[in-house]
Amino acid sequence: MELQGKRIVLGVTGGIAAYKAAELLRLLAKQGAEVQVAMTEGATHFVTPTTFQALSGKPVFTDQWDARMPNAMAHIDLSRQADLILVAPASADFLARTVHGLADDLLATMVLARDCPLLVAPAMNRQMWENPATQRNVAQLRADGIGILGPASGEQACGEVGAGRMLEPEEILEEVIAFFTPKLLASKRVLITAGPTFEAIDPVRGITNLSSGRMGYALARAARQAGAAVTLVSGPVGFAAPQGVDRIDVRSALEMHAAVMARASLSDIFIGVAAVADYRVANAAGHKLKKDMGGIPPIELVENPDILAEVAALPGGPFCVGFAAESRNLEEYAQAKRRKKNIPLIAGNLIQDGFGGDDNRLVLFDDKGTHPLTPAPKSELARQLIEHIADLTGTD
Ligand code: C5P
Repeated sequence: MELQGKRIVLGVTGGIAAYKAAELLRLLAKQGAEVQVAMTEGATHFVTPTTFQALSGKPVFTDQWDARMPNAMAHIDLSRQADLILVAPASADFLARTVHGLADDLLATMVLARDCPLLVAPAMNRQMWENPATQRNVAQLRADGIGILGPASGEQACGEVGAGRMLEPEEILEEVIAFFTPKLLASKRVLITAGPTFEAIDPVRGITNLSSGRMGYALARAARQAGAAVTLVSGPVGFAAPQGVDRIDVRSALEMHAAVMARASLSDIFIGVAAVADYRVANAAGHKLKKDMGGIPPIELVENPDILAEVAALPGGPFCVGFAAESRNLEEYAQAKRRKKNIPLIAGNLIQDGFGGDDNRLVLFDDKGTHPLTPAPKSELARQLIEHIADLTGTD
């Protein structure tokens, strides 16, 4: 529940993307937000207020002369109760009216009368988006401190292809969560490794570690939401990069090492979450090994570089954070790793507590001692770890 207790006015304006606002409302509510919908007259031609009323559990406002507010001041009352006004989709006409401070319908009046931030997710035909008038309006809205989410590029409802599509509801949700996250790592550059590495034996076989990559991806997301510029060096995992995170795909430990070392000195914080294979195959075969090649093929192993220890040894290098996944003696092993690699902070977990799953139990070890975190979903643990890192690096 990443939006627990947040009060959001969702403004819906006239455009075909209005149907996606219903899904957005559902996603916001699922994260605990209390959502009040206000629609323009145009929006009601695409989706009915009943849809939003059913999903939000609240009456929907469309008319500035609505008699339901006893004081006839819906435009003031609704926006005063809000932590955020989010307009999605925001039509070209709505942007233009907002730039000029028009108050010719309920939503526009609320926006003008608001004392809370405003985020808009534009959605329109590509020509309308590219039109200098719209571009001027968007630049002015930005200058006025209004957050512009997207738009995305791609195929449009009209059949044309270009910029102007509304961001997907999941993407807007991510931006809203980021909006409410304290910017503890503002302007910090964070480099993270995640997932397993894969060390080839031949073109189709290899040695790897079990690692879902979930914790590393959750940390990349939490760091970005805290305002950092995040680069994620990822071994082979099956999911997409978090929004706004620069992802570099690697396979072997040597590739991961090269990608990290090329960027480590430019980073403020390095978090090694990847389960890096300790050894690689020295005599990897260029062609597939065949069973009838005679005998069991010998596999010769050589040690991989310890990426975290190397980054920690860089003069003037980033603040380094390690992970220790252990099957027993967590404190003893994690502390030993912290000393050996010479890093200020290590996050330890017992493999049986969270491997591969969504939840985990983490214990943080630093110079001040041991800090057990309450067992929680990885997204929540990631947020707490980022807070701890911000504390230690004195960035809040
Ligand atoms: O040495 P060990 O694998 O137990 O330590 C785990 C920590 O070290 C993790 O943070 C992992 O990402 C990092 N590590 C690394 N390069 C290696 C091995 C581990 O960066 N070759």
